[in-house]
Amino acid sequence: MKNAAIVTAALLFLAPFVHAQTTPPAPPPLLLGSAWYPEQWPESRWESDLTLMQQAHLHVVRVGEFAWSSLEPSEGKFDLDWLERAINLAGKHGIYTVLGTPTATPPAWLTTRYPETLRIDENGHRDEHGNRLQYNWSNPKYRELSRIIATKLAERFGHNPYVIGWQIDNEISQTSTDEGTQKQFQSWLQSRYGTLDNLNARWTTAYWSESYSDWSQIPIPKHGGVDSGNPGLLLCWREFISDTWRSYFLNQIDVIRPLSDGRQFFTTNTMGFFQYYDHYVTEAILDLAAWDDYMPDGKVDFIGNGMEHDLARGFKRKNFWVMETQPGNVNWSSVNVALAPGDERALAWHDVAHGADAVNFWQWRSARNGQEQYHGTILGADGTPLPLYPEIQQIGAEFEKLGPLLADTHVVSEVALLHSYESRWAIEWQPQSNKFDPLEEMRRYYAPLRRRVQSVDIVSPDVDLSGYKLVVAPALNLITESQAQALIAYVKGGGNLVLTPRSGMKDADNALQPERQPGPLASLLGGRVEQFYALAAPVAVNGELLQTQATTWGELLSTSAPDTKVVLRYGKANGWLDGKPAVITRRVGKGSITYIGTIFDAAAMQVLADWLLKQANVAAASLIVPDGVEASVRYGKDKAVHIIVNFSEREQTVHLPTAMIDELNQGRSIREVTLPVSGVAVLRESR
Ligand code: GAL
Repeated sequence: MKNAAIVTAALLFLAPFVHAQTTPPAPPPLLLGSAWYPEQWPESRWESDLTLMQQAHLHVVRVGEFAWSSLEPSEGKFDLDWLERAINLAGKHGIYTVLGTPTATPPAWLTTRYPETLRIDENGHRDEHGNRLQYNWSNPKYRELSRIIATKLAERFGHNPYVIGWQIDNEISQTSTDEGTQKQFQSWLQSRYGTLDNLNARWTTAYWSESYSDWSQIPIPKHGGVDSGNPGLLLCWREFISDTWRSYFLNQIDVIRPLSDGRQFFTTNTMGFFQYYDHYVTEAILDLAAWDDYMPDGKVDFIGNGMEHDLARGFKRKNFWVMETQPGNVNWSSVNVALAPGDERALAWHDVAHGADAVNFWQWRSARNGQEQYHGTILGADGTPLPLYPEIQQIGAEFEKLGPLLADTHVVSEVALLHSYESRWAIEWQPQSNKFDPLEEMRRYYAPLRRRVQSVDIVSPDVDLSGYKLVVAPALNLITESQAQALIAYVKGGGNLVLTPRSGMKDADNALQPERQPGPLASLLGGRVEQFYALAAPVAVNGELLQTQATTWGELLSTSAPDTKVVLRYGKANGWLDGKPAVITRRVGKGSITYIGTIFDAAAMQVLADWLLKQANVAAASLIVPDGVEASVRYGKDKAVHIIVNFSEREQTVHLPTAMIDELNQGRSIREVTLPVSGVAVLRESR
């Protein structure tokens, strides 16, 4: 007994030292990495893979997210040893792991023994084994089995010093229309509405005899669009989907978190503007936003891609990760063109410029067999580097070198665009003009604003907006009562709010607001939308600010307050709009509210954006770049780090407003920089 106590005391005394020896250093601040599937290869191959990764300065791998059948080959029989060996071996090469929970790919034993865990699609067909995402996200048995594998992984890896975070599932997207899900949906509705009378009233189910006398009568809308149901029902179904994804994540996080040492983050990989669930609902329970960034046609649309980055940054309102991006080409487009030489590097720096702290490729090497044999990789089927490898090495070396400079730097914006899934859905179901695309509407504002200010946030209307000087709400069709109150308070507090076509039309039940657009904001605006018109032909719009033509959508505006000013009027238009206000604005204390009732081309949008910035007192950036060149800035203590990427098709020279340190080129102090096609400059400005 006594001896045992002495040994224990000695071990306790030594523990911190043993630990200190085995604890690896913190991962570098700027990470380059790859998805890696050790389960697809003989263990004897791992060392060569990891050596090649190390030589490319890769410091992170994401593993495990499709490995359920290798981790639990039969029910209750686990084999986690191989994964531990792979993670620890990677660690020895200075490579940290993000561990994916493998629930996107249930093993065959599971779905054959528990067929109820397979989803039923909109046509009533049960999905089958052999692909992925065939599970039913609401099914209690699937959740039980997911929890078991998640617990096993957490018990083994929750304290592994090389495991820096958890990715829950992979690109969640598929839902199920089975009876069990329908019952859950009905109870969800019951807790939301309390009584059927309330639900019937708020959905106006008297329309088309849709009234319900029992909760069990309420269907799942199966085919999208108003053809498959009342707008209130459609909205609730998507909100139920979002809440069910949230509980799907929590089902795993709640068992992993208590077994983890607190250092590990929780994330999942999203798909840009994918809209079938409300990402703000799921991201609220995660620690880090991460998304998968693909260019299917091999062309770089840096504005659209930048918007997607900014969406991801807005999920947690902090730096994010690119969890996947293609090395070269994808395999799922019609013509899978590879990125041009230099584009991979240009994109990696563009990612960082928008706030990414990690860029990970999908994938390292293609499995010998499996559905994605043609997808871009870093190694060939022979296990040796492809022509892209040196470019990846260069990115890795640059990330390693400039990581310390970029550590603790962030994008800071005075301008925000509001993005609401509910509003996008409401317009998707009732487009009224197939030319009206809410994301295009967002881009129309994003591009000219960002061009001037070099950073724009994209955030939910539910966040605190008081830090922004200018907030543009493109097509904010659905406004809840609390959002309306917050927007009113924002303007009264000195903020500048801009509403665009189709704003403020619907309420939280996707019902028409009882007042004309912009509904609860009309009295603050001192004006309203008298009527809206889908336009087949362009219409003239004139004013001191602009002489131009508008397209697609025209709203006839009116003013009711003496201090609401008309900025632009329709010229000869569709008869109804002729001579009527197209843009109105009102100063409210130090703030303002503006309503833009139609859609302009890019040149007019730049004039309008400049006017909006001026109204809101937002200064344009002093570092001016030519078209096709993207300039961004990350701020840190005492410094601004400018990242300039030449996405144009020719060499470009940028004159700097002040001397800056050229961090990629021997730290020289420069006043101008010339960038080749796909060229990158990272410039430090001391402050
Ligand atoms: C992603 C997915 C990856 C891989 C990749 C190919 O959507 O998460 O597993 O399939 O696409 O582009």
